[in-house]
Amino acid sequence: MTDTDILLTPFSLGNITLASRMVMEPTITSLANDDGSVSRSLMDFVMARAVNRPGLIVLEAAYVHPTGKGYVRQLGIDHDGLLPGLTELVSAVHSHGVPIFTQLMHTGRYALPQALQAQPVAPSATRPRIPRDPPRELTREEIAELVQSYAAAARRARRAGFDGVEIQAGSGYLVSSFLSPYANKRTDRYGGSLENRARFLLEIIDAVRQAVGPEYPVICRFNGDEVMEEGNTYEEVVSISQLAIDHGVTAMNLLMGWHESQKPVVTMEVPQDHWLPLAARLRQAWQVPVIMAYGLHTPALARQALIVGACDLVGWARPMIADPELPRKIRENREEEIRPCVACCAGCFGRVFRGYSLTCSVNPWAGREGEYRTEKPSLIKKVLVAGGGPAGMQAAITAAERGHQVKLLEQAGRLGGQLRLAAIPPYRQRWQSFLTYLEQELPRAGVEVITGAPLTSGALEAEKPDVLIRAVGAIPARLDLPGLDRWPVYPAVEVLEMPELPPGRNWVVIGGGLIGLETAEFLAARGKEVTVLEKEKSLAKDASAFDRAGLVRRVREKARTYTMVSEIRVEWPSLVAIQGDTAITFTPDAIVLAVGMEPNPALNELMLAAQATETFAIGDCLRVADILNAVHQGAEVGNLV
Ligand SMILES: Cc1cc2nc3c(=O)[nH]c(=O)nc-3n(C[C@H](O)[C@H](O)[C@H](O)COP(=O)(O)O)c2cc1C
Ligand code: SF4
Repeated sequence: MTDTDILLTPFSLGNITLASRMVMEPTITSLANDDGSVSRSLMDFVMARAVNRPGLIVLEAAYVHPTGKGYVRQLGIDHDGLLPGLTELVSAVHSHGVPIFTQLMHTGRYALPQALQAQPVAPSATRPRIPRDPPRELTREEIAELVQSYAAAARRARRAGFDGVEIQAGSGYLVSSFLSPYANKRTDRYGGSLENRARFLLEIIDAVRQAVGPEYPVICRFNGDEVMEEGNTYEEVVSISQLAIDHGVTAMNLLMGWHESQKPVVTMEVPQDHWLPLAARLRQAWQVPVIMAYGLHTPALARQALIVGACDLVGWARPMIADPELPRKIRENREEEIRPCVACCAGCFGRVFRGYSLTCSVNPWAGREGEYRTEKPSLIKKVLVAGGGPAGMQAAITAAERGHQVKLLEQAGRLGGQLRLAAIPPYRQRWQSFLTYLEQELPRAGVEVITGAPLTSGALEAEKPDVLIRAVGAIPARLDLPGLDRWPVYPAVEVLEMPELPPGRNWVVIGGGLIGLETAEFLAARGKEVTVLEKEKSLAKDASAFDRAGLVRRVREKARTYTMVSEIRVEWPSLVAIQGDTAITFTPDAIVLAVGMEPNPALNELMLAAQATETFAIGDCLRVADILNAVHQGAEVGNLV
């Protein structure tokens, strides 16, 4: 890009000037110390991104009051004892010329029980739709105390050197639960009318303004759409946000959806430009600078958002987790080197919401930046990797980046393994961007790649590697069912790779886990009548929590699904499924087996006999798991050798 790249133009935000339009959005990492103070690993996470100079960093949500802690190892800003760590973090970020704001939050009714270890508080005792403890209603005295805790936290932020603060007023956390008629059932001056529901937020803004003065930037992070049927309408959103602006916020940072929204907001299913029209409409209404995240995961989309007037600043949360160097790569015109976030939610949301620290499916060092060995090895080794799936590719890249001499052999004609398959079903194509990234990264890192080349004892003898890494993936599990072979039977992974499906309209998929459902959706999209038979009570039990609801809903719309199927038997020409006391009869044209995957034993013996000084087995050939696991194991082994 040239100097006129809109992403690289400066922008005035209150009394500070940002060098570019690229904002790192807040992401709770669960990397702080247990007492809420800044830890080494949180510092590493932030600094890995600060050195690449985004225009602004908004630090992850920090709890303003002990009752507002909602995540394991969440950052705090609720007492002065936390100031030394915060001050050190701010000055480290400033040393790279990057401004940093902190986000002030009370988790309210979304607190994880293991993090809060007390009953959550909320405007009313309305239990969320996600698994959390039932909250209790706040008293008027407690509300007044909480308002003051925001002011005290803002004062503390200023003392620590933060360039501004952001009030978290969305996503279903405490402030937004006051705003919403769904969560707020109060009958006092904090509930009922729109003005009453907005009172808590407006009191916070007033108190924060008083604490930090008129010039200090105060952003309000606010839902443009709550994606809650019983929540605020668009008109109410505009009215409440206008009140916030009238009370003196410097800018608005858009949020979409609550964590308990029943419709998808952040997954692969949502088109990446989905929220642009709404953002553009709100920006027109607001007359203050607008920051917008949500799906602007490529530089092209980010530019589009700025050009169409959807926002003044582009926010990146997950893209900055996936690639800390994102702003630098844009500045240096190396956009094809960006490691893309694929919106899988497995390593980030999926982990933090379960009480684990953040990581990433595509960036194995996210959340453990300090573990990556940057020093060059004293001995350059000859590394041979057998298998070009995600584990093998990542192992090869990491080992080569460290300076080793690496060769990767893949038996198939193409690289990718389970990653290639993952990108085939409907709504899963974003995995392809990660595969493309890895394929391009291999030669960049200096890996010699040979496809269509199985590892043989002859090849091993010729190569004489110091390190041998076996990454041969998984194979489909079999199902011994007498008579089943009277139909054409295909493993699910084979079906996904078929350029054209065999004839026959009625297909039965045996196994309703993730692969079974994805294959069912794939078949339905190609005009097949699909039936899924699953022995468990629920479908797609092995899918990530974020994908499961959408996948199950879509498959139920397009296919017939039967759960708790205790037995399947062949009564030719019928297939009979037993569900409780009922026998259900099908006459399929073809059958798909999706009854799981198991480690591929290939090359096991070769490994045992190999003369290499170091041998490793990684990824699915060790234990069948997801792409995150494969990538992480690959990186760990590459880092170890
Ligand atoms: C792991 C994780 C933690 C998050 N924590 C926060 C937070 O502390 N405060 C907040 O306002 N939003 C938080 N978000 C939401 C993001 O800031 C952002 O709005 C959302 O991920 C959509 O933007 P993206 O598509 O760029 O990821 C978090 C998102 C993730 C993935
Ligand atoms: S875990 Fe998935 S969604 Fe989260 S940042 Fe990484 S690639 Fe993106």
